[in-house]
Amino acid sequence: MTETAHDRLLIIDFGSQVTQLIARRLRELNVYCEIHPYQNVTMDFVRSFAPKAVIFSGGPDSVTREGSPRAPQEIFDYGVPILGICYGQQVMMHQLGGRVESGHGTAEFGRAYVTPSDERIELLAGWFLEDKEQVWMSHGDHVSEIAPGFEVYGTSPNAPFAITADLERNFFAVQFHPEVHHTPNGKTLYENFVRLAGFSGDWTMGAYREQMVEKIREQVGDKKVICALSGGVDSSVAAALIHEAIGDQLTCVFVDHGLLRKNEAQEVVGMFRDHMNLHVIHADEADLFLGELEGQSDPETKRKIIGKLFIDVFQKYADQIEGAEFLAQGTLYPDVIESVSFSGGPSVTIKSHHNVGGLPEKMGLKLVEPLRELFKDEVRALGRDLGLPASFIGRHPFPGPGLAIRCPGEITREKLDILREADAIYIDQIRKHGLYDEIWQAFVAILPVRTVGVMGDGRTYDYACALRAVTSVDGMTADYYPFTHEFLGETATRIINEVKGINRCTYDITSKPPGTIEWE
Ligand code: XMP
Repeated sequence: MTETAHDRLLIIDFGSQVTQLIARRLRELNVYCEIHPYQNVTMDFVRSFAPKAVIFSGGPDSVTREGSPRAPQEIFDYGVPILGICYGQQVMMHQLGGRVESGHGTAEFGRAYVTPSDERIELLAGWFLEDKEQVWMSHGDHVSEIAPGFEVYGTSPNAPFAITADLERNFFAVQFHPEVHHTPNGKTLYENFVRLAGFSGDWTMGAYREQMVEKIREQVGDKKVICALSGGVDSSVAAALIHEAIGDQLTCVFVDHGLLRKNEAQEVVGMFRDHMNLHVIHADEADLFLGELEGQSDPETKRKIIGKLFIDVFQKYADQIEGAEFLAQGTLYPDVIESVSFSGGPSVTIKSHHNVGGLPEKMGLKLVEPLRELFKDEVRALGRDLGLPASFIGRHPFPGPGLAIRCPGEITREKLDILREADAIYIDQIRKHGLYDEIWQAFVAILPVRTVGVMGDGRTYDYACALRAVTSVDGMTADYYPFTHEFLGETATRIINEVKGINRCTYDITSKPPGTIEWE
């Protein structure tokens, strides 16, 4: 639990796939909230958290099943507004004396329409501008009898108690999910709920920045912090924020494994060192990495070699920084709550492919993770607030193993040089056509095959390459980007004409799944 002087909202997680979206909607309303799994929410916890309002999330279980999740009974006497969603609604009804029944023709999945009762309560202000609202339902069980004190304020064909409330106690219960995209005006419900609960909307980026600066100073004191700067958005924003808090007590190590894109090392180091005045060590270890990778063509072996060397190199440089007690990491909110979910329990895991995973224990370092409460787009907003250039903030993700996994098979310096040139042209094309921000990730892979071509009067025997561009929300699933034939033709021509060593260009139209985004 985080100390904060702001108004706080507690989300009790009953295991819904979309609990995270509730938090998202509340952030958009400048409300500070935390998600906690129901197992951890005791009344002692609630009192120490001191929420101004509580939301019960949806969940996959059935309240009719013995032993299924519950909220602490005394929370209903705690005196703050409560909003129950889907399973949360059913828990409320059940615990307050109503009835919930399972299935038999009343399950509802997908789009539904709710019609209002005659009385329009504050929760529904701005809703039902038409005579019905589109909502998204996903329930097998249904409430068959509402709890004493509740009245009905909205119904759908299969949910006679789609919206109910006990206005005396400020308890609200909805059968649908207002947090998802398919409930188009759902945000209005949250807006009304937090307003009637008395939230002032004081959770702004500026407030967050000030609070974090204070917190980092408090945590670190006069000790030193080291940070593995990758050039990615997360580690860059974390470094900039920590630097604002403790200045020269922060040292960043930029591990250059020789697998970076064209001019990348100079750009990243230049920006942080020269423009932001950060203390950055440029660990140029290309010879070490490329030497160890020589002759290796198995993808997992390549990844393991890079991962191990990365840790060795980082440790070598970090050991030179006397008195470092903290390691900074750009862990984000989704990384944290991924595991604080229905099945995961309260423990926190960091992304498995995180480059410095395992290091804190090995080196006896404590963690500084100033982005733990932010979503990706909030990190970007904070980065802009801290003065990082917009072009840098909006950069596509780049994997830790770098170009190694875009060079299937054996890696050679020659192939890497060719790949860098082709990739730079491809990205230049995408930017010129104004497509960069529509694409999640775009890159070139150099294929381990030579093909015959003809240029001028001569025969060529050069590498083939594959262009990849995908749209995605989180990298977990992805679709290929539908470039026009004109764009593809123009880009292929440029790459083949301008890059010595490539004579054939293909476009990868595999989605994920079944493919992955990277080639290895
Ligand atoms: P895949 O290829 O698994 O990639 O579909 C999904 C996303 O993760 C990135 N990626 C990595 N990032 N270290 C990282 O920091 C890694 O080892 C790694 N492998 C893949 C990939 O670029 C894409 O954004």
